[in-house]
Amino acid sequence: MSFDLSRSGTILGIETSCDETSAAILCNGELASVVVSSQFFHEKFGGVVPELASRAHVRAVLPIMREALNRAGMELDVVDGVAVTFAPGLMGSLLIGLNFAKGLSLGLDIPLIGIHHIEAHIFSALLEKEKPQLPFVALVVSGGHTLLLLVKDVGKYQVLGETLDDAAGEAFDKVGKMLGLNYPAGPEIDRLAREGNSEYVKFPRAMMNEANYDFSFSGIKTSVLHWLKKHAAERFELADIAASFQRAVVEVLVTKTMRAAEEHETTEIVCAGGVSANSELRERFRAECARRRMRFFVPRPLFSTDNAAMIAMLGALKLKRGIVNDLSLTALPRLPLAERSTP
Ligand code: KG4
Ligand code: ZN
Repeated sequence: MSFDLSRSGTILGIETSCDETSAAILCNGELASVVVSSQFFHEKFGGVVPELASRAHVRAVLPIMREALNRAGMELDVVDGVAVTFAPGLMGSLLIGLNFAKGLSLGLDIPLIGIHHIEAHIFSALLEKEKPQLPFVALVVSGGHTLLLLVKDVGKYQVLGETLDDAAGEAFDKVGKMLGLNYPAGPEIDRLAREGNSEYVKFPRAMMNEANYDFSFSGIKTSVLHWLKKHAAERFELADIAASFQRAVVEVLVTKTMRAAEEHETTEIVCAGGVSANSELRERFRAECARRRMRFFVPRPLFSTDNAAMIAMLGALKLKRGIVNDLSLTALPRLPLAERSTP
């Protein structure tokens, strides 16, 4: 079944759940503009400082929305609905975007559409020309989540597996820190790994061959730490460690996702979330899908990481189905996307 975005209207998307302030305009499923402003100042603290993040969102949200409207050549009065992330994320950061959107909804008398951030990542794949068909298997790999899902429709998700400890992005960031890289370290490990030997160290592929779809990334983090301690006095290339670590993570993610698609008899695979910007992960998925005559969908890197275009996209899909919220909607730092299915 394909997605119908015709006559879904003009949707303004707002995203402030973590350290990106973003606004986007989507007209009948076509992206008219997107502006993403990343708070790079967290780098020197080695992670996101919640209080500083919310203060920066307060300053940025209005100018970012104006810029998105400018780039689309539109005024606020053409907007049919405002979609905003209300969960999960940092409480203070979520509140800024949500209250801003509530003000717009009330002032312009347009529907408010509350968006689950992880759910929006799944549909970021629809921002590209080639769109997946339902049902599809989705791997969402971000800084806080690693989820393998069977997506039957908007709002109908079966959780096939998830991480039992660290998220994949968290593993990239923590290993990057051990290697002396800045936060977030995913993009830098990706770049370094291209020059390294991925066979240099055989790091563990945790749970890869277990008969379930769960993941575990805390063991590999400890393995990298032990390796670095043991070889501290020797000369080695950071690129080789980055490449070996990345290869282990990519192999587990791809192997389990392919198996899930085969078991659930779908030819459609979607990968989304910050880690889906990883070049080796994309290449590996493409190659494995081509071998099996499956179709692989991944958004361009700008839409893999946090952005409001995906918020507007899910907003359009929900508005078309009449799923809207009222002003009593509250921000929630945690909210599971779906209940775990019992095998
Ligand atoms: O989805 P996202 O932007 O924010 C969350 O919702 O968490 O994901 C951020 C995560 C960070 O852990 C970052 O290191 C990782 O995505 N990331 C990458 C790459 N680009 C971003 N990981 C590996 N390779 C990349 N190229
Ligand atoms: Zn995200």
